Amino acid sequence: MVVLKTREELRRWVKLNQNRERVLVPTMGALHRGHTSLFDEGVKAAGGEGDVLATIFVNPTQFGPNEDFDAYPRHFEEDLEKCENHGVTAVFAPSSAEMYEENASISVTESSLSKHLCGASRPGHFDGVCLVVSKLFLLTQPDAAVFGEKDFQQLAIIRRLVRDLNFPIKIISGKTVREKDGLALSSRNAYLSDKDRAEAPVIHAALKAAANSIGDGSLTSPEEVITQLSTQINRASGAEIDYLAVVDADTLEAVASFGQNPIRILAAVHFGKTRLIDNIGVIGAD
Ligand code: PAJ
Repeated sequence: MVVLKTREELRRWVKLNQNRERVLVPTMGALHRGHTSLFDEGVKAAGGEGDVLATIFVNPTQFGPNEDFDAYPRHFEEDLEKCENHGVTAVFAPSSAEMYEENASISVTESSLSKHLCGASRPGHFDGVCLVVSKLFLLTQPDAAVFGEKDFQQLAIIRRLVRDLNFPIKIISGKTVREKDGLALSSRNAYLSDKDRAEAPVIHAALKAAANSIGDGSLTSPEEVITQLSTQINRASGAEIDYLAVVDADTLEAVASFGQNPIRILAAVHFGKTRLIDNIGVIGAD
């Protein structure tokens, strides 16, 4: 496995490996089993002869002024070991200065899918994601890129980015990896107090119960779903709901009723200062 720190090193590596299938897995590091499952997907997609290129970059432009950019966990050496153990063939880990000019003045804005849900709670967040992912796509020129369903809105926005800017890149999605008690793995789980950590699995439990209740016909409208979800989640004394939404899985628009299109239920919940997100598909719930 090679570790590339500069755009020039990356450019040379990309040129050298021009003819091999290349699968990109962008991350912000502090890698856990969720990330490594995406590397495993990448290895499958790249085939025996291909490359899996992971990026590790805590992207400053996607953090708001009061968010946790400085405190975001950084475990570079452990991360490299995990990459190597999961078949990653190259890691691109640039500095901020390598990625951004001081007076950079071009932005990439998705103006529909990103306006509600996490986009409403975190203004500018998806602009930062679209900008850095566009730059990573241009720098690494992959055939495919893997993103997790855990960040369902991000995945939808990346698909739109690829469609609308004609990036010739196949987007592959990876299922959400969870702790035994159902809590979705996240680098931010480390911030939770013991009490909040014990309560946080309520998010997945409530989402799962709601998906099952829609499936068996006992909940028949999005309003009923939201009411049941908020009742269950609010039973956890540390939980403060940011949003709950029942949306069309493709457009992320709130649905008024359950029709033919696949539905996704999304939740964002604060425990103390930590904001956790999760989601579930209604049919074939994961
Ligand atoms: P990060 O939060 O490090 O996540 C990197 C990738 O891992 C994303 O595609 C995310 O959806 C996926 N992921 C996180 N937790 C997961 C879990 N429990 N199961 C499966 N996949 C999981 O998302 C970002 O970084 C950044 O926004 C990035 C795309 C790298 C741009 O900076």
